[in-house]
Amino acid sequence: MLLYRSAAWFAKGLREYTKTGYESASKDFVPDDLEVQVPGRAFMVTGGNSGIGKATAMEIAKRGGTVHLVCRDHSRAEGARAEIIRESGNQNIFLHIVDLSVPKSIWKFVENFKQEHTLNVLINNAGCMVNKRELTEDGLEKNFATNTLGVYVLTTALIPVLEKEDDPRVITVSSGGMLVQKLNIDDLQSERTAFDGTMVYAQNKRQQVVLTEQWARAHPAIHFSCMHPGWVDTPGVRLSMPGFHARLGARLRSEAQGADTVLWLALAPAATAQPSGCFFQDRKPAPTHLPLARTSSSPAEEEKLVGILEELARRFK
Ligand SMILES: NC(=O)c1ccc[n+]([C@@H]2O[C@H](COP(=O)([O-])OP(=O)(O)OC[C@H]3O[C@@H](n4cnc5c(N)ncnc54)[C@H](OP(=O)(O)O)[C@@H]3O)[C@@H](O)[C@H]2O)c1
Repeated sequence: MLLYRSAAWFAKGLREYTKTGYESASKDFVPDDLEVQVPGRAFMVTGGNSGIGKATAMEIAKRGGTVHLVCRDHSRAEGARAEIIRESGNQNIFLHIVDLSVPKSIWKFVENFKQEHTLNVLINNAGCMVNKRELTEDGLEKNFATNTLGVYVLTTALIPVLEKEDDPRVITVSSGGMLVQKLNIDDLQSERTAFDGTMVYAQNKRQQVVLTEQWARAHPAIHFSCMHPGWVDTPGVRLSMPGFHARLGARLRSEAQGADTVLWLALAPAATAQPSGCFFQDRKPAPTHLPLARTSSSPAEEEKLVGILEELARRFK
């Protein structure tokens, strides 16, 4: 089954996730959707120092929004912040140093953040694909800690902050790679089978899609969405998937093309006309399962995922 799913997904990717896939999809875009100015609105972009996150932060800054970059490495992040200020002319770019694989640091960060700032839009962009099984200081598998638990803790902590504001939104940068995985709540720490970083990452991205659906149901005042940026030429792909990067080469999307749907979901009035909780690809809701792939999970499994994350988030507060 995994072989079928992977082959069907790769064929779909060659058609839709590449640069030509973007160019073809973009013929249906409404150009005015992103002709907006957003002074007075505040946006948090995790991993905003690199790749899709930096391209997203730059475009928001150019439209006058306040941007909070949440990054783990001070010198890389300071460089990105300076570049965004220089290129956009927007001084309202704040930097927060947080390791999103450490729940305690996230809780502490939000406690301080909410004393001083407001927030309209959270963009959960930071992500990683660590190809060897590594543990965080809390003993959690690193991909899970960053991509799933980190996203869960940051979003949960910020929901009360977002709920106070006008038109609040949460966008999570998932991946079309999640289509090859069925939700698996029995091995969240990847201890039971041979470790495959690509599949662990895809499983985390599936978990993000399930979380987005659950949050949308539980918090109707906020518009939640998740999305696939396409196959994008970023430092992350170069580092974690060198073979894929070399094979796809010039067919990969630019960072700006990868950021397009994130921006549309964060900025466009048209985005919130779509139901909350959907998965998007190139500004349109997209199916969360491949045909005949048997990746659907039950409501009980999905609720159990949230329960486990709730417990872990509490344990590492
Ligand atoms: N590129 C693609 O083709 C593609 C496809 C599907 C989905 N995505 C998703 O798009 C998002 C952005 O990825 P990208 O391709 O733009 O890669 P990228 O350039 O490597 O950006 C990832 C960002 O996440 C940050 N990050 C990773 N772990 C972190 C942690 N523990 N704490 C704080 N920040 C952390 C990185 O910080 P450092 O700079 O310090 O490492 C970096 O800023 C990810 O969620 C990825 O899964 C990408």
